[in-house]
Amino acid sequence: DKGNHRHFMEKEIYEQPEVISHALSHYVDFAEHTVRDMAAEIDFANLRGLAISACGTAYLAGLVGKYWFERYARLPVEIDVASEFRYREMPLSKDQAALFISQSGETADTLASLRYCRDNGLKIGAVVNVKESTIARESDAVFPILAGPEIGVASTKAFTCQLAVLASLALAAGRARGTITEAEEKQLVKSLAEMPRIMSQVLNAVQPQIEALSRDLSKFKDVLYLGRGTSYPLALEGALKLKEISYIHAEGYAAGELKHGPIALIDENMPVIVIAPFDRFFEKTVSNMQEVAARGGKIIFITDEKGAAASKLETMATIVLPEVAEIISPIVYSIPIQLLAYHTAVFMGTDVDQPRNLAKSVTVE
Ligand code: F6R
Repeated sequence: DKGNHRHFMEKEIYEQPEVISHALSHYVDFAEHTVRDMAAEIDFANLRGLAISACGTAYLAGLVGKYWFERYARLPVEIDVASEFRYREMPLSKDQAALFISQSGETADTLASLRYCRDNGLKIGAVVNVKESTIARESDAVFPILAGPEIGVASTKAFTCQLAVLASLALAAGRARGTITEAEEKQLVKSLAEMPRIMSQVLNAVQPQIEALSRDLSKFKDVLYLGRGTSYPLALEGALKLKEISYIHAEGYAAGELKHGPIALIDENMPVIVIAPFDRFFEKTVSNMQEVAARGGKIIFITDEKGAAASKLETMATIVLPEVAEIISPIVYSIPIQLLAYHTAVFMGTDVDQPRNLAKSVTVE
């Protein structure tokens, strides 16, 4: 049932504040502002490293997770797409744990990576939506994302719920390893708890502007997304979402890689979507944006109030979000990314919930 929505994808985008709140309540204590102890599931305190593997959007959630585990838990993360991970013959040791992320819990390559790690004696954790899935069944510890059924082929609420669970796990790991203080944990969990309210606010605030902008975006054949830090995986996710459902060619790049190649493509025919909250990377990303502007590139700037005030560049559009804590920015910034892909696809008249050539669950290699 799509309710009042035209597509399942739209419904699932709008469900996010509610499902994230539900997912978080499973992992954090909203009253105490602490993260649930997960030592019984994974002994984070004694790990030397974490291996993460997944496909598509789930892989991109894992890539954000890598930044969090390394920053908050000082835990080195090895991550790869499952189709490479399973064949890399990566040296693994028993003092590493492995984490597999999958909405369906049935993705063939992810399952094969899981079995490879299990055969190497690693403790296996699964971040899944479907709790009765094969990946969940074959794991030592299951971390459900509690997003509810996701019908749209393009993943939206599963992505942000995966992020919410990974953030909670990274903080649990940080506490277990003594790499975040009690005060830091409280502050970070407070930020997580604020997410549902901020997401609702953003959904309402940006929708009309993004719908109008999508009409312009639908005229282009190529789009480039740039981001730094956790906004880099988000740039990849933005590009993936746009190409999947609108069939517009899109690429995501780390902003710093611009001058190492993709800058050659910049002209007035390829809009550049820059994801840059006013964080510790902002100045660097803006200097990349200047390089785009200097070559006549059209910019769609997704930032916050401080970021919008700090940049004097002319843009095709500036989408202004509220200022948020760094840990929640990839989740909050998912909303404009998803809405932009959604409305562009609707405008182009594609089959949004069932894009051509794609399947919701990829059970063959
Ligand atoms: C993107 C998308 C796919 C899936 C990928 C993994 O919108 O839906 O990239 O994320 O096929 O699927 P799961 O998470 O079921 O393993």
